[in-house]
Order: sequence, then structure tokens, then C-alpha cells
Amino acid sequence: MAKKINTIAVLTSGGDAPGMNAAIRAVVRKSLQNGLNVKGIKKGYAGLLNEEIIDLQKKDVSDIIQRGGTVLGTARCPEFAELEVQQKAAEICRKHGIDGIVVIGGDGSYRGALALSRQGINTVGLPGTIDLDISCTDYTIGFDTAINTAMQAIDKVRDTSSSHERCSIIEVMGRNAGYIALWCGIANGAEDILIPEKYDYNEQSIINNIINNRKRGKTHHIIINAEGIGHSTSMARRIEAATGVETRATILGYMQRGGSPTCKDRFFASVMGAYAADLLADGKTNRVVCHKNGDFCDFDIEEALQMEKQISEYQFEVARQLSL
Ligand code: ADP
Ligand code: F6P
Repeated sequence: MAKKINTIAVLTSGGDAPGMNAAIRAVVRKSLQNGLNVKGIKKGYAGLLNEEIIDLQKKDVSDIIQRGGTVLGTARCPEFAELEVQQKAAEICRKHGIDGIVVIGGDGSYRGALALSRQGINTVGLPGTIDLDISCTDYTIGFDTAINTAMQAIDKVRDTSSSHERCSIIEVMGRNAGYIALWCGIANGAEDILIPEKYDYNEQSIINNIINNRKRGKTHHIIINAEGIGHSTSMARRIEAATGVETRATILGYMQRGGSPTCKDRFFASVMGAYAADLLADGKTNRVVCHKNGDFCDFDIEEALQMEKQISEYQFEVARQLSL
């Protein structure tokens, strides 16, 4: 029989992502409507261990849907991988009357949610990361804002790169995944896109590409380099030496994680947040909310963590062909 749920809590964990606040708001408001008490846990699993737990009412999540970051704060808490720490966290939940938790974060955060579920605390995960690197879902909260922020920044670099007839290597985030690089590479019309899933470390082919484009009269050359490959500054030095074309590296960095969430991120965060609240209210545990093949759905966390996702060969090929 499903456990009776009276009180749920929500936390954000791992890197922040635009739209996390919209998700918090949805979890809080839908859970209150489901007749449950709601608490917020500050600073992810670290805040849970430090008992940084607050009561949340409807008005406490007013005026946050449009704000970047997370009002609850977030943290990385490596010790949460230890069994004794997980047991302590479950004890703290019981002490505060918390029957279930919505964890907003990435794969790492889901592993924490899985551990808590094994300790008897009901858990539901929500995909919150700019990287889009969660296999069980086609969409992650924050990705849309991040790619739009990066796209606009890349357009700006392109202006100055053209004026000076330079080559620009622009490094975007994504941890070990190339989704931000691929999307921006296509959207910004980059001449080369380097992503960890595909890069063969053949710098000579990039160099040849630059030289050929110059001969054809192209005034700039934009290379989008994924963080998973990195080394943009040393790559720029080598490319300049080999081509004779002035080459600059720009690392976009944390600006990609901030800013007001786009409509799409607010929409997905709101619907997924409400979905998570309903799962907990129904006594479900160890689930993760996803968007797959055009529909919202949920999976067992253990199953979800075993899934794999591939960069689309077709999209990568399109990017290559359109840059010619
Ligand atoms: P993300 O959730 O974005 O993937 P991390 O990988 O940094 O980010 O994970 C966020 C947090 O989740 C970690 O700091 C840790 O507290 C928790 N976590 C990660 N891996 C595990 C694990 N194997 N077991 C329990 N908790 C984990
Ligand atoms: O997961 C989001 C992300 O911004 C990645 O793109 C990046 O690799 C990582 O977080 C950076 O993490 P930190 O904030 O710990 O430097």
C-alpha cells in the first residue's frame, strides 16, 4: 500500500539552471492544492544535512517565476554518496515530518534521490540542468534559456570577429555533452562545431577549413567548442600559427547559467513541477519526471539512470553541410 503523505519538501541540487524557480513555485503551489504541507530545503543535500529547512506557503513563491538561479540555493555535496550520510539525511527528514522530497537537478542529484528513497523517504526527480545531458528525457529545465543566452553572445562575438577578419573560437558549457555547442553551432551558422561525442582531435582539418574559407573570401571563421573538449586558448594559438589568421578564444562561462528563464523553460518547469507534486501526493517514490516523444511521463530513477542518449547523427551532419 502507498505510504500516506502529509508533508513534502523541495530542494535544488547541482549546478543551478534558469527555470528552477518556476519549478519550485509549481511544486509548492500544486502540493498545497493537493492538501499537503510544504517545506523548502536550502542549498541541496548540504542544506538537508545542516537542517536548513523552512516552511513554504503560496505567497513565499510569488514573484519568482521570472527569476534566474534558485531562491532555495544549491550546492554540491560529495559526502552524500556515503551510506551513513544518506541514513542521517533520512533521519533528519523523519525528524522534520518530511515524507517526500522533490529533487530538482541532474543525474548526480537523482542518485541522491534514489539513495533517500532506499532509506524510506519518497522521492521524485525533476530534470534541471542547462546541459540537456539527462538520458531519460528529451528536455531539461534551463537548456532553452542557456542556448538563447549563448546564441546572443556568439552573435556579438561574430560582429567583432568579422570586422577584424579574425577566427573566433567560442567555448560553451555542457560538461561532457555537446548539446549546447551543437544547437548554437547550427543557430549561429558556425563554420566548425567541436563536440566531445564527435571530435576526432584532427586540428589539421580545421586549419585547412579556415585556409580554404579565406581563399573563398569569407571574412570570419566561427568555431564553437564544447567545454568537454576545452583548451580553447591554446587551440587559438596553434590555429593562428598554422593559418596566419588572427585567432581569439572567448569562453562564455557562467553567464550561460544565469538570466531570466525563457517562456519554454518556465512552461516546462511549471508542468513538470506540478507533475512531480502529483506523483508524491499519490504516494509514488523513486520516480523522475521526463518529456519524451512530445509527452510528459515518468520513469523509475534506477531505470532512468541506465538509459543512454546519443547526439543526432543527422543534426550533426546538417550542421556540417550548412557551414560549407
Ligand atoms: P547534477 O545533479 O547536476 O548531475 P552533480 O553530479 O554535481 O550535479 O550532483 C549533485 C549532487 O548530487 C552531488 O553534489 C551530491 O550531493 C549528489 N550526488 C551525486 N552523486 C551521488 C551518488 N552517487 N549518491 C548520492 N548522491 C549523489
Ligand atoms: O551542469 C551545469 C554546468 O554549468 C556544466 O555545464 C559545467 O560543466 C558545470 O556545471 C560547472 O560546474 P561548477 O558550477 O561546479 O563550476
